[in-house]
Amino acid sequence: MRKQIAAANWKMNLTLEQGETLIDEILSSPLNVNEDKLAVFAVPFPYLINVKNKLAVKKNVFAAAQNCYNKKSGAYTGEVSAEMLKSIGLQYVVLGHSERREYFNESNAMLAEKVNICFENGLQPIFCCGEPLSIREAGTQNSYVETQLKESLFHLTADQLKGFVIAYEPIWAIGTGKTASSDQAQEMHAHIRSVLAAQYGNAVADSISILYGGSVKAANAKEIFGKPDVDGGLVGGASLVAAEFTTIINSLK
Ligand code: PGA
Repeated sequence: MRKQIAAANWKMNLTLEQGETLIDEILSSPLNVNEDKLAVFAVPFPYLINVKNKLAVKKNVFAAAQNCYNKKSGAYTGEVSAEMLKSIGLQYVVLGHSERREYFNESNAMLAEKVNICFENGLQPIFCCGEPLSIREAGTQNSYVETQLKESLFHLTADQLKGFVIAYEPIWAIGTGKTASSDQAQEMHAHIRSVLAAQYGNAVADSISILYGGSVKAANAKEIFGKPDVDGGLVGGASLVAAEFTTIINSLK
């Protein structure tokens, strides 16, 4: 069975103290996690070691970085390498979030390099894709997302893509309160899986977790995660509230 994942994306929010309180509150609630159902917390770089240590008391709950650089090491002031993340024992890195693509000009080609450097360091990317509103309105979202996947992932081998994690996040639904309907999510997730199957075969496509992101909250998580090709969520706003994110974790199927 492919993994079901509830991933928190704190973005640039919370102080360390607020973040630690939030984690403590979530960990003190009963969490329905196991080897096939994971909770992941993508937190700001300065908090990674603290959060990772806090989460170590519980199995199947992981810290993640929100980004890493596409170069191995060197004179890149202010950047963080995959090797550094590996050196603190991290396993997961969010790559290609739409905010990175939009505000920091991350291209599909640059993301292909980031994916490679993560693999070289044994890190599992949570690779984000998704279309802006104009593309959705033009009805060309399927080919748009397909291009994102092809240009950033399709140089990988089937072995590398086995068990990979993708997050589909329609940009028009991020932080807007406007969720894609569960049917819209399922439709795109099924499309993504069929594109992966055409290139890598059904076994690989079926092993890949495809998370939905965009205004997931406690009230809609169960319905969205209940769709057959939706394997959990990448959650921004609602992951900053303990009760919300706890319910979201416990909505994994
Ligand atoms: P949101 O953000 O849940 O606040 O819409 C999701 C994301 O950007 O990962």
